[in-house]
Amino acid sequence: MKHLTHIHEHIKTINPYQLGRSTGDLATDLGIDINAVVRLAANENALGTSPKVQKVIQDYAKDCLRYPEVSVLQRVLGEYNNVDPLRIIPGNGSCEILELTAQTFLGPGLQSVYPLYSFVMYKLATQYVGAQGIAIAPRADFTDDLAAMLTAITPQTRVMWLSNVANPTGSYIPYAAIKQFITAIPSNIIVLLDEAYTEYLPDEERLDTTDWSNEFPNLILTRTFSKIYGLAGLRVGYGIASLELADYINRLRGPYNCNALAIAAVTAALEDQAFVEKSRAFNVAGRKQLTEGFRRLGFSYIEPAGNFVAVNVGNAREMAEKLMQKGIVVLPLHGYQLPEYIRVTVGHEAENRALLGAL
Ligand SMILES: Cc1ncc(COP(=O)(O)O)c(C=O)c1O
Repeated sequence: MKHLTHIHEHIKTINPYQLGRSTGDLATDLGIDINAVVRLAANENALGTSPKVQKVIQDYAKDCLRYPEVSVLQRVLGEYNNVDPLRIIPGNGSCEILELTAQTFLGPGLQSVYPLYSFVMYKLATQYVGAQGIAIAPRADFTDDLAAMLTAITPQTRVMWLSNVANPTGSYIPYAAIKQFITAIPSNIIVLLDEAYTEYLPDEERLDTTDWSNEFPNLILTRTFSKIYGLAGLRVGYGIASLELADYINRLRGPYNCNALAIAAVTAALEDQAFVEKSRAFNVAGRKQLTEGFRRLGFSYIEPAGNFVAVNVGNAREMAEKLMQKGIVVLPLHGYQLPEYIRVTVGHEAENRALLGAL
């Protein structure tokens, strides 16, 4: 188009994030009730949100006329993590922290490195700013190949992305190995350790990494309220980094990037750790139900550590479409270069049963 001649070249090559059909549209197409749709595609917490958080959200309605006070969120998260609030980077979902990181450190001619099977936003955030993404194949057991990631560093490398638990594979790496990895990375290269699913790790593997951000001035830890806290719809996550690093990233952040409902909800969500525990137990039971079912059906799967399972169904796209026709939504992983795998979020017992029955 003649009038759009000034568009950045790199934007023309971006393949946008693929969102599935809305639940309402799918229900209408299938002629079923909207509540009958089984959504197992986005790794949300099927148990929902703490009732205490729901109450806070309802009560907040009358105060929605005010702009949000994002500094309150920084204070609450600073207190929870026992760090200076200025070291907190509030995000409209943790995805925004990924984008802000790319904006701060990447650009044309520069590179970032991520595992081949990793959250698509690492690649997209890199592409948004015209940089080049280097994808590193995993080891045979699907765990991330940290040694190969280190070897991929060049003078152009500015950001290393890593997620523990990894999405979409669901695999994890022991924290000792991750610490070695971070230590081996030159301190002028940013490491973003994405902990979106860290609450789901088994007790003996879980570690509070907050202190690492004191040790490594180039480290950004990201966390989210979209997964175990069950608040994906409110879009709130955060990063923790050294004071200097957080300061640079916060400069690019919009002043009202987290909404007021989310800020009110976060305080209550952090206070209700009993709900987190309950969600963890719910997840362990549901994941066991799924993996036992997959084994019974003869489907192999990648050993899961999060609230989802990547399972080999032969032709993922075809299977996902067939399941959709039955009102069950899963994520086929062809876009993640795993064309035989679908990713299934742990659902309620009846939802898991419905999926296994349909398979
Ligand atoms: C590894 C990983 N990081 C981050 C996110 C994004 O979460 P948020 O909702 O906080 O933007 C997801 C969401 O699926 C994820 O899988």
